[in-house]
Amino acid sequence: MTAQKSMNPKQRVAVHAANLVEVDMVVGLGTGSTANLFIEALAERNRDEQLNLTVVSSSAISAVKAEQAGLNVTAIDTLNHIDMYVDGADEVTPDLTLLKGRGQDLVREKLLASAADQFYVLVDEGKLVEQIGDKFPIPVEVMPEAWKLVLGELKKQGGHGELRLNAGGDNVAVTAHGSLVLDMHFEHVDSLELTMMLDTIPGVVEHGIFSELATAVFIGGEQEVEEHWR
Ligand code: A5P
Repeated sequence: MTAQKSMNPKQRVAVHAANLVEVDMVVGLGTGSTANLFIEALAERNRDEQLNLTVVSSSAISAVKAEQAGLNVTAIDTLNHIDMYVDGADEVTPDLTLLKGRGQDLVREKLLASAADQFYVLVDEGKLVEQIGDKFPIPVEVMPEAWKLVLGELKKQGGHGELRLNAGGDNVAVTAHGSLVLDMHFEHVDSLELTMMLDTIPGVVEHGIFSELATAVFIGGEQEVEEHWR
């Protein structure tokens, strides 16, 4: 077990989750600054306590980080079972619906979140919102050739939004899955209704609303970690 004294909230929540991992587990790794801290804490426990962990990553960048930290990284298609997936989120509502996908790895993130026996979400208080979409647009990954048709359909359903551009703003953003992203806003968001709608539009590859997937959300504070279980 790793002690949690003198840590900032992100480190504290990352260590808290790493302390839940048990010997021989297959652990899914998320993407982002909080997931990076989890990877570091996990690698330390794996090394110090000889946990014999296997990890699978939601992104190339997390796989590189895990390898560098000495974790045994396996490919997603070698697995038929994942014990635990641990990742950050962009927004969390009171009923533990998540918004994810600010990065480029939404498809693998949702695959791992759905497949794992336990999905633990690591956030600080700044991620808590009343409803999905309060702080960030809702990312909708689309087949490249379908983006205008999908955008048209989403507009008919009351949405507005635009194609995501890359960091330099000089080209479209392309996800790890080869999709384009529509960053969408909806006036009245019922996340379950929105999920059902987005799941049925042809051309939509995946979207950033994670409804009823989180096993628990851990909220890192200055002194402690608050646990919210579904
Ligand atoms: C990646 O696509 C997102 O879903 C991340 O989980 C999210 O952006 C969290 O990142 P931070 O931990 O850096 O806030």
